[in-house]
Amino acid sequence: MRILSGVRPTGRPHVGNYIGALKNWKALQDAGNDCFYFVADWHALTTSYAETKQLKELTIEVVRSFLACGLDPDRSVIFVQSAIKEHAELALLFSMIVPVSRLERVPTYKELKQEMNYKDLSNAGFLTYPVLQAADILMYKADGVPVGEDQVYHVELSREIARKFNSLYQNVFPEPDAILSRTPKLPGTDGRKMSKSYGNVIPLDANIEQLRDKILPMMTDPARKRRKDPGNPEKCPVWSYHVAFGSNSDERKWIVDGCTTASIGCVDCKKLLLSNMEKELHPIWKKFQEIDNIPGYVEEVIRKGNEKARKIAAQTMSEVREAMNLLF
Ligand code: TRP
Ligand code: SF4
Repeated sequence: MRILSGVRPTGRPHVGNYIGALKNWKALQDAGNDCFYFVADWHALTTSYAETKQLKELTIEVVRSFLACGLDPDRSVIFVQSAIKEHAELALLFSMIVPVSRLERVPTYKELKQEMNYKDLSNAGFLTYPVLQAADILMYKADGVPVGEDQVYHVELSREIARKFNSLYQNVFPEPDAILSRTPKLPGTDGRKMSKSYGNVIPLDANIEQLRDKILPMMTDPARKRRKDPGNPEKCPVWSYHVAFGSNSDERKWIVDGCTTASIGCVDCKKLLLSNMEKELHPIWKKFQEIDNIPGYVEEVIRKGNEKARKIAAQTMSEVREAMNLLF
């Protein structure tokens, strides 16, 4: 299967990005799919157009974590959206066939606009966000798009655009399917949504000491004020982490029994979590070191990946221009 997905460089990658996306991207790669993974830096501008100081650095940072998480540039095409100008051209052409009212009905558009009411999101680029996303997806004729729940609607819109294009002009685009990851979203250390603006994130390239400093003070079930108060793991973000970081069934039983009967303390529970997280994150940390030991490595990976992506984009665009009867 041709797989494609992207991530916006809006902050330094954290363990939530790994659990929610990158881990699954690697699994799809390792299963032998034909994978395209990219940094959607133009998409970051739709909401952060006024703060671009860190954009270059964050874009490189995202690719650095792609690599640390085991995405392999020899098997997956790893690239940066802004390097492939064809995405802008295709988005422009798609914008001719998408009704504005259709875009205004996109749930993420309405929700994000409300959620980010401290920002002026009346810009046209924010409204046409899903058109650009459809261009990203259809450019590479992806069959499967691994995304979170919130993005399913965007993939659906890409299907509609593909259908409309094919019926108006020529059959150029297959209709992509969303591939939903089953892992629930990892909360931040305070139980709220993991977000840099809440200061509750755990960076992916933290070391063991930094990890300990994040995990030990983590919020727990508020009912367990004292060691002898029983708790309920379902009400505790530490439990979500245990689930995400693969505690085994014996460990889970130990936690559930111990928590509900107050026979273990939260510190015991967190220490087990730390050891399980370290097991899973250690190879990633090692990879970060290897990458950092080769100056210019990430930039070189991006350069090569861009070249591969550009070839395919050029091919798709010649089909598109032909289908639409453009002279050039
Ligand atoms: N909108 C996606 C997000 O916020 C990022 C994205 C941009 C994307 N283009 C894409 C995801 C194409 C999948 C396919 O997470
Ligand atoms: Fe959370 Fe574990 Fe404490 Fe229970 S014992 S409240 S699951 S940290």
